[in-house]
Amino acid sequence: MSERPSIDFGPATAPRQHNPSAAQPRLRPGKGLDVGTANLLSAVQDFEGNVIIKAQRNAFIDIEQNDFTRNMLTKMDVQYVVLNNKMVVIGDPAFDLANIYNRETRRPMQDGMISPKETDALPIEKLLIDRLLGAPQVQNEVVYYSVPAEPIDFDMNVVYHKGIFNDLLRKLGYNPKDILEGHCVVFAELDEDDFTGVGISCGGGMFNICVSYKTLPALSFSTARGGDWIDRNVAKVLGIKASRATAIKEKGVDLRNPRTREEQAIDVYYRELIRYTLNEIKKRFESSEDMPQFPEPVDMVFAGGTSKIGGFIDVVREELGRMQFPIPIKNVRRADDPFTSVARGALVAAAADEDNPDV
Ligand SMILES: Nc1ncnc2c1ncn2[C@@H]1O[C@H](COP(=O)(O)OP(=O)(O)OP(=O)(O)O)[C@@H](O)[C@H]1O
Ligand SMILES: [Mg+2]
Repeated sequence: MSERPSIDFGPATAPRQHNPSAAQPRLRPGKGLDVGTANLLSAVQDFEGNVIIKAQRNAFIDIEQNDFTRNMLTKMDVQYVVLNNKMVVIGDPAFDLANIYNRETRRPMQDGMISPKETDALPIEKLLIDRLLGAPQVQNEVVYYSVPAEPIDFDMNVVYHKGIFNDLLRKLGYNPKDILEGHCVVFAELDEDDFTGVGISCGGGMFNICVSYKTLPALSFSTARGGDWIDRNVAKVLGIKASRATAIKEKGVDLRNPRTREEQAIDVYYRELIRYTLNEIKKRFESSEDMPQFPEPVDMVFAGGTSKIGGFIDVVREELGRMQFPIPIKNVRRADDPFTSVARGALVAAAADEDNPDV
């Protein structure tokens, strides 16, 4: 397959931009990229320190090529590429089309890593990332991209995943550097605490945990349980489709007050997930050698889409109250903007990197 499958572009659709009013200024070199199972996000900043975030669903869909479908996409103002004789729509519009066709989107990543099941994953990721990052502003511009920590409960090779994205970003003209996803949360949210504390990214495919001491990760790991795990389990016990469980969950459930049978099931699995995560941190912290001492209590910060559910922090506090946690905790809180935290943290790392040329 060719490197760049973009043969035929339809009309342009820009990625979702979170603060469009701050767009188009001269930008500082150094970019952050959150490589997520569900969403890809980029972060850049201008010389006034304004951060500009762009996001796209990490998904695509292919459609038979004929006059009708081509006209439909043009009318909808949706950008497509032609790949293996099919029209391929990537990112957010793939979701709208999946609804119209009553189909599932195809996903380049699964459980936090490049999907072994999806043969077209690589060219699609390259297109999506190219569109989010744009061209490097200077030769070999530094980009920090998030990667999962070693998983504790499934057998996956992070080295391969890391290498794939490194290669892809290099081909786009960047100087890529990987950074642990949980560490990004620490960089984004714990700047006032000397980057000391616990950062947890609660994603779709996985949870990424990082216990950091003065900027350095002392303990980091990932688990294969995230939002998708909740959806799969809720779907199984209620006999509904996983996509239906996702929709109910995202519509606004409050774990302190589940109102229906569906919401109760979501509550059960959320509590189980939080308990499991805290217990794993405890187990690993206690059994690892050379763990730092935390003389002062530290903050525990949560980010990622799965932390957005109502009552999430209350449940964490409840579960922490039931156990002897080995690290003294001062505050348990959710990032102000949990969706963009990883991208912003990666940008903090990129901005501080000495390989960035002065401009
Ligand atoms: N309001 C909400 N309430 C609960 N869950 C939500 C909400 N909004 C999004 N989610 C869930 O958040 C998850 C996606 O989060 P996020 O974008 O942080 O993941 P990701 O970074 O792409 O994945 P990963 O880090 O696992 O690779 C999905 O499981 C989605 O269902
Ligand atoms: Mg993530």
